[in-house]
Amino acid sequence: MTIEVRLADVSKSIRKKKCCRKSNRKTKRFPPSPAAVSSPLQRLYMACVDAFKGVGTVPSPTDVQKLCSILDGMMAEDVGLSRNLQFFKTSRVVGEITPKVACTTIYQSEKFSLCIFFLPANAVIPLHNHPGMTVFNKLLLGKVHIKAYDLVTSNNSDDSMPPSQSSNNSDDSMPPSQFKLASLKADGVFTAPCDTSVLYPTSGGNIHAFRALTPCAILDVMGPPYSKKDGRDCSYYRDIPFEAMPHGQAVMTGEGSERYWWLQEIEVPKESEMEGIEYMGPRIIETRSS
Ligand SMILES: [Fe+2]
Repeated sequence: MTIEVRLADVSKSIRKKKCCRKSNRKTKRFPPSPAAVSSPLQRLYMACVDAFKGVGTVPSPTDVQKLCSILDGMMAEDVGLSRNLQFFKTSRVVGEITPKVACTTIYQSEKFSLCIFFLPANAVIPLHNHPGMTVFNKLLLGKVHIKAYDLVTSNNSDDSMPPSQSSNNSDDSMPPSQFKLASLKADGVFTAPCDTSVLYPTSGGNIHAFRALTPCAILDVMGPPYSKKDGRDCSYYRDIPFEAMPHGQAVMTGEGSERYWWLQEIEVPKESEMEGIEYMGPRIIETRSS
């Protein structure tokens, strides 16, 4: 069974299109019905309008709490999906080692975007970053393994450098400069329904990777969205065990050093290619400027 056939099942709610990054041009405007305004998706949109103030800003703790509260309560049905779709029942794809991921954009403005990623079983979203962005991940359906890192910098208050790193900067004990030291923030399996994950520009696991253990649907709220022209392009990495680097054994002397990995930026991997599909679930009503 091909990915196209399986996506056709998802397309009962969501129709394919050529690109997943465009704005939702069919967004409804006034007058909204009371029921539409109180829907979880609409409340999420309105909370995003309040929370995301634009480039260089991070939502306040109060706004983060509100967004998490809304997302924690959201179900697949709130974005027009059903767990009964054949897509979510297909456990393995014969002859396809790494199935393609599909994505759909529910809404996008300059300040934030709402997207859903569909991962067939065994699909991956390779290790990637979110420069200057705050991101909320809500697993709507399925089971996924998530690995997440933050780069270790002198500004990371909760990440002390490994002792020998902070005390020894001589060239013969340091890896080449293209390798960046990172702290492991998450490495585990998440099964829906589960709480929302939040990552910030420099904390919470800004660099992460997904591997679907079953077919998954993940709702992403990103603010601000990726923008190549504004310097927020997506970079990809491979992770290398801390002790695997040259001189790594000598460097790895501190307690808890197993939390540290090296990240090396790589070319855009083939697995990162996604198929855009059109969002056909409940519409957002633009009630305020966003
Ligand atoms: Fe991501």
